[in-house]
Amino acid sequence: MASGISRRQFVLGGAAVTGAVALGGAGYVAAKWAPEDAAEGLLRETMGDGMSKVLVVYGTKTGCTSGIAEKIGETLAAGGVTVDVKPAEDKPSPAGYDAIVVGSGIRASSWHGAVKEWVSVNADALKSTPTAFYTACLTMGTNPEKVDEVRAYTDPLIAETGVTPVALGLFAGMNDPKKFSLPERLIMKMMKAPEGDFRDFEAVAAWTTETAPLLGLS
Ligand SMILES: Cc1cc2nc3c(=O)[nH]c(=O)nc-3n(C[C@H](O)[C@H](O)[C@H](O)COP(=O)(O)O)c2cc1C
Repeated sequence: MASGISRRQFVLGGAAVTGAVALGGAGYVAAKWAPEDAAEGLLRETMGDGMSKVLVVYGTKTGCTSGIAEKIGETLAAGGVTVDVKPAEDKPSPAGYDAIVVGSGIRASSWHGAVKEWVSVNADALKSTPTAFYTACLTMGTNPEKVDEVRAYTDPLIAETGVTPVALGLFAGMNDPKKFSLPERLIMKMMKAPEGDFRDFEAVAAWTTETAPLLGLS
């Protein structure tokens, strides 16, 4: 996206490939877990042993956002909090937590379906518990000046559910073609999206530390 991929291009690219898949009759299978995700420590679902309890829920297609979820968990745990880090697809209950952090990768300017559904289903609990959102996407890695565009990715979800996050983290994601399905690889190729892992874990830790007091954690 060095040349500046716009939101419109992501949406149009997605529509073109979806059409191609439908015509070809092929199933759409998004790349999911990879062995290296476990190597990154994603099996550590609970961290820390503090009195306050935080739930970090994430949606990911390639492991990018789960790595960020884990960094958030690690940072909170280092500050004396007990943290559970869980995929939205597991439908974790938000009950019993003092604060919640929800994040997702992006496809065509939108959070992944499982996370949006989790937020919708649990909207009442999220409205009565301090909740922060975060987004991980390629635009923040390649065109960080488009921060307003990225911030707007969650506007529809916030409007639909009435869940107002106390903070919204906007983080650089990655483009690892090996982890994408064929249609996804085609989209990224069409857009000449630069390959690489643009995640900045120091920025994630800094955001988490800044956000902790807003979540009521001292
Ligand atoms: C089909 C497709 C569409 C994408 N659409 C967007 C987009 O609209 N905006 C963006 O910034 N990144 C977009 N990305 C990049 C992803 O958000 C990025 O790879 C992110 O790291 C994915 O996180 P995850 O693997 O945890 O889901 C797209 C990637 C693919 C494959």
